[in-house]
Amino acid sequence: MPDASSPIERSTEGMVDYNANSTVQRGIVDVHDATVRRLVETIGQVRPQFRIADYGCGPGLSTISAVRPAIDAYRALDPDGAIAVCHADQPGNDWNALFALVSGPDGYQPGGGNIRTEAAIGSFYERMLDDASVDLATCYAASHWLSHAVHLEAPGAVWFADLEGAARRELEDLARSDWTRFLRLRAEELRPGGYLLVSTLAAVPDPAEKNGVAASGRYVYRAIQIVLQSMADDGLIDQGVLDRFVFALWFQTETDARGPIEADPVLREAYSIEQVSVRPAPINADDVYAGAVGEPDLYARLYTGYMRGFADSSLHTQLFRPAARDDAQADALASDFYRRFETLYRDNPGTYRGELWELTAILRRR
Ligand SMILES: C[S@@+](CC[C@H](N)C(=O)[O-])C[C@H]1O[C@@H](n2cnc3c(N)ncnc32)[C@H](O)[C@@H]1O
Repeated sequence: MPDASSPIERSTEGMVDYNANSTVQRGIVDVHDATVRRLVETIGQVRPQFRIADYGCGPGLSTISAVRPAIDAYRALDPDGAIAVCHADQPGNDWNALFALVSGPDGYQPGGGNIRTEAAIGSFYERMLDDASVDLATCYAASHWLSHAVHLEAPGAVWFADLEGAARRELEDLARSDWTRFLRLRAEELRPGGYLLVSTLAAVPDPAEKNGVAASGRYVYRAIQIVLQSMADDGLIDQGVLDRFVFALWFQTETDARGPIEADPVLREAYSIEQVSVRPAPINADDVYAGAVGEPDLYARLYTGYMRGFADSSLHTQLFRPAARDDAQADALASDFYRRFETLYRDNPGTYRGELWELTAILRRR
């Protein structure tokens, strides 16, 4: 349940330093370039307009990379037809940064190209666009975020993969109902014949893990746990609050992702499954910053930036702000946390490496 005392109920609003710290996310987008072109060719010409929607678009270059192959492929099919590109994300997204990019030298708006840029602002766990108005929907590195912040009795586990018993079941149920809801909503927004492509961080079966799955970034989250526990031990954050803190995310296995699409009657009716698969990332699947492991300072900086990019808003809202007198003290706690995390990585290169498995789901609206 959402915690009414939390000023921000959403799990991710206001992420920081996006372009600098999103190489992992951009890798996830780039891998699908050729697939996106093929999907557009399969959809074919659409009048009065071809509409692309990128859900959980973020503020940075990755949403440009997400839509560019679709624009190029559609232009090859229909040199003059109208294209609408809708970037969809939460209110706290850095929309100014995004629209500056769209119209800048790295953007896709050539001026006069008959491309209309739109924004849909809200949650992808609610309706974001009109009925049957989207031809190609993409969602990269975003659908693993659950619909709201969670607080569970979970001492020693700040992320889903280390939860056990009732806490794990509760989060698993939320993840399943969120995924079902996300897919049902997109089914309403897609035109018949349109495609939904979702790609994000995932998990794979691993009998050696306590819940039988190895999830992307498992050692990164365990490093976060170690550092937060050291802050609780030093009396900087409250142990009780830490024991109830869990990142509101779930990295799906192939079974997690496929299950509801096959079991839910609405989804079965709405979609044909072209692909649901989980594979290791094409490069650096064992350590996303493997290239820097021989340079501990750089390695530590890269991991700290990456972690900060996805974790800052959850940590700030749910741990540092409640432990602090005011915003300045919350910022000081965050700085202390990042310093400790960077030191842990610098002193132990490779130990807390970030592994990466990627889920790809490609569904066609019937
Ligand atoms: C890691 S970023 C990924 C951004 C971009 N798609 C990329 O691949 O780089 C996750 C994005 O998902 C957005 N997001 C998370 N939950 C969301 C929700 N319920 N509704 C809409 N956007 C959401 C966040 O605001 C953030 O911009």
